[in-house]
Amino acid sequence: MPTVVVVGAQWGDEAKGKVVDCLAQDADMVVRYGGGSNAGHTVRFDGREFKLHLIPSGIFRPQVTSIIASGVVVDPQVLVEEIRALQADGVSVDNLKVSARAHVVMPYHRLLDALEEKQRGSAQIGTTCRGIGPAYADKAARKGIRMADLRHPERFAAVLRSALEEKSRLLKLVYDADCPALEEVWGEYEQFLPVLRPLITDTDPLVYSAVKSGKRVVFEGAQGTLLDLDHGTYPYVTSSHPISGGACVGTGIGPTHIDAVIGVAKAYTTRVGSGAFPTELPNETGNYLRERGREYGTTTGRPRRCGWLDTVLLRYSAQVNGLTAFAMTLLDVLSGLETVQICRAYRLPDGQVVEQFPSDSVVLQQCEPVYEQLPGWKEEIADVRRWDELPEEAKRYVQRVEELTGVPVAMVSVGPMRTQTFWRHNVLEDAPVRSLKELARRQALP
Ligand code: GDP
Ligand code: IMO
Ligand code: MG
Repeated sequence: MPTVVVVGAQWGDEAKGKVVDCLAQDADMVVRYGGGSNAGHTVRFDGREFKLHLIPSGIFRPQVTSIIASGVVVDPQVLVEEIRALQADGVSVDNLKVSARAHVVMPYHRLLDALEEKQRGSAQIGTTCRGIGPAYADKAARKGIRMADLRHPERFAAVLRSALEEKSRLLKLVYDADCPALEEVWGEYEQFLPVLRPLITDTDPLVYSAVKSGKRVVFEGAQGTLLDLDHGTYPYVTSSHPISGGACVGTGIGPTHIDAVIGVAKAYTTRVGSGAFPTELPNETGNYLRERGREYGTTTGRPRRCGWLDTVLLRYSAQVNGLTAFAMTLLDVLSGLETVQICRAYRLPDGQVVEQFPSDSVVLQQCEPVYEQLPGWKEEIADVRRWDELPEEAKRYVQRVEELTGVPVAMVSVGPMRTQTFWRHNVLEDAPVRSLKELARRQALP
């Protein structure tokens, strides 16, 4: 089995958690490579449902080593709560490790996140208010606190004191707000230390030796390609690098060690928070998708904006991530529609039709989708377990996405449960797609 990156191909919530959980059945290690507790990854099996924010979605597989890697920003409170909740449900976290290099989300990061959002007024990003932006900003400004600092009480006290001095001035002068006092933060974080300290280690060599010795490693992305700080719909993005390249930066693995990149894409499109969304359906069809897909945020409970599938966006995602395959999820949600639409291009205000995803968010805002209409299917497909059991219209839909993106759909998901899944080719065993010829051969597969 090669090493596989699982990346969100759209704006997040594509069911990465489910796909990683499925792949983890045959994996030795699952590594979460970026983001923080802004993520909410749902895993469902045996009638149970788990929502993970920081812990990798391979945690339910006893043979898997679960790693929270260097690129993640860790909120100790969320992590400790997540560990305790899993343990209370009888899930072992004995194989969980957290990178000493990972940065720590502090209470003042959460506070600043909320205050900055308020200050943006009508230009709000719609962040999760989990302190993610301010934590990554401190990291880039080289004044963050790292998990390694938590291992040493004196060192933690010193970096915390210096951070609070700066943050209390900033909060008072810019926002007229109070910063939590040293004793308060210390008191709160001290109780997390006995749980966290045994988990903190240098994870880079662990991942490297797993990769080098041919172990089966899944790199779990958070958020989605269009939320990437550099390649997403800036400024309506997160502050990390969800794209596949982020797996290298976030774990300390070189790009030559990545064998396959699976882009998880819903059969339609959703977005939480602000920003352009060309195929958004603020109408009955959008509501139909939202209700059937239970499209309410895993982390914040906010209703997700819903719209048709956008292959301009997916082609861009294939390009940015070097996708070798798609996992198409929530296909069951489209059942019952007379017709379904796929966006294949955008029309600009001057009438020009473009197939390239615009780099300018203002231009994206002005794009009108150019749709292809396909026949829908009436049948519920939640019980389908093989490609040839799908209604012909559903097969045609999936195949048209492959044609429009040039990327094979390797996995199809027809419901939230682990078992509601089937594979069209084995991404773990088959050689990754490296040429157009190989792509054509894959697309000829049934
Ligand atoms: P993630 O952040 O990418 O892991 O995705 P989320 O967990 O935030 O959102 C995906 C939602 O879709 C969750 O509620 C899943 O239980 C659910 N889900 C996953 N796959 C399917 C599917 O194929 N069909 C349906 N109807 N729901 C699914
Ligand atoms: P998973 O891993 C969907 C969105 C927020 C907001 C923007 C910035 O579950 O797919 P942030 O709190 O990161 O500063 O918010 O990014 N966002 C997500 N949307 N899924 C996620 O994670 C997200 N994480 C952040 O809604 O628009
Ligand atoms: Mg989610």
